[in-house]
Amino acid sequence: MADKKGYIWMDGKFTPFAKAQIHVLNHSLHYGSAVFEGIRCYATESGPAIFRLQEHIDRLFHSAQTMGMKMSFTKKQVAQAVLDLVKKNKLQEGYIRPIVFYGEKMGLDPAGAPVKLAIAAWPWGKYLAKESVSVKTSSFARIHPGSSVMTAKISGHYANSIVASLEAKKAGFDEALLLDWRGNIAEGPGENIFFVKNKTLYTPKAGTILPGLTRDSVMVLARELGYGVAEKDVRLKDLPKYDEAFFVGTAAEINAIGKIDGHIFGAGGEGAVTGEIRENYAKIIHGENKKYKKWLSYVK
Ligand SMILES: Cc1ncc(COP(=O)(O)O)c(C=O)c1O
Repeated sequence: MADKKGYIWMDGKFTPFAKAQIHVLNHSLHYGSAVFEGIRCYATESGPAIFRLQEHIDRLFHSAQTMGMKMSFTKKQVAQAVLDLVKKNKLQEGYIRPIVFYGEKMGLDPAGAPVKLAIAAWPWGKYLAKESVSVKTSSFARIHPGSSVMTAKISGHYANSIVASLEAKKAGFDEALLLDWRGNIAEGPGENIFFVKNKTLYTPKAGTILPGLTRDSVMVLARELGYGVAEKDVRLKDLPKYDEAFFVGTAAEINAIGKIDGHIFGAGGEGAVTGEIRENYAKIIHGENKKYKKWLSYVK
């Protein structure tokens, strides 16, 4: 990251990348109390546009509220800061990371700790290693929905994702898959999952997962393309019933899953339905489908 150029927006100021630093006794660093977003910006014929900016900002504020954070900026100001930063950093395409965190304070109770907001934006290409990834079911269960607020994007939740990812990589797989506490398929470490059977897409229900914006976008798009969409419990033993599987998320976008543990989907590459969804999603994010212009915030 040290090679990164440009600015990081910190509490209202554009700070040169190398100078955007925090104190080592930061509450969020020690206790996982930061909340954050992952947003993507895409090149369109009218310049760079940010995908579903308002919904990401809404989720950021929802997450901050769960951590008891009092924001010093309005949603409108944060959305504008994201747009300004993309312009300032001269990004055409890239990833945007707003993070709200508590400042210097030790002891779990964050009361009295300063609430800080930083936004970074940098070019970031493909997140997953391959067009079609191999996935290992984790021995770690996804966080129990009774243990936290699963609709919030809290940095502490990602310890669960990281142990699962490390385990999968160590076993030679590209990515992990977490089951929920009942043994149903939940999600990837940073992605939601879909399964395809004939003309219907199935995705795990909200509850144990972070119900992502890409998941929502794919459900809307798939229905428009004529697919049925159902939120459903899926178990590992059911995998042979499905023709295809794919991950979705802001970072991963739409990414085929070639195999889960020993089960290979089709020929192991990207299936036809996944390809159709991916191509149509690409048109939306690049502003080529006028129907979905409402999901794009253009950088002016
Ligand atoms: C655990 C987890 N699930 C799902 C997602 C996908 O969410 P979104 O599509 O909003 O990026 C993410 C990424 O933010 C995630 O971290």
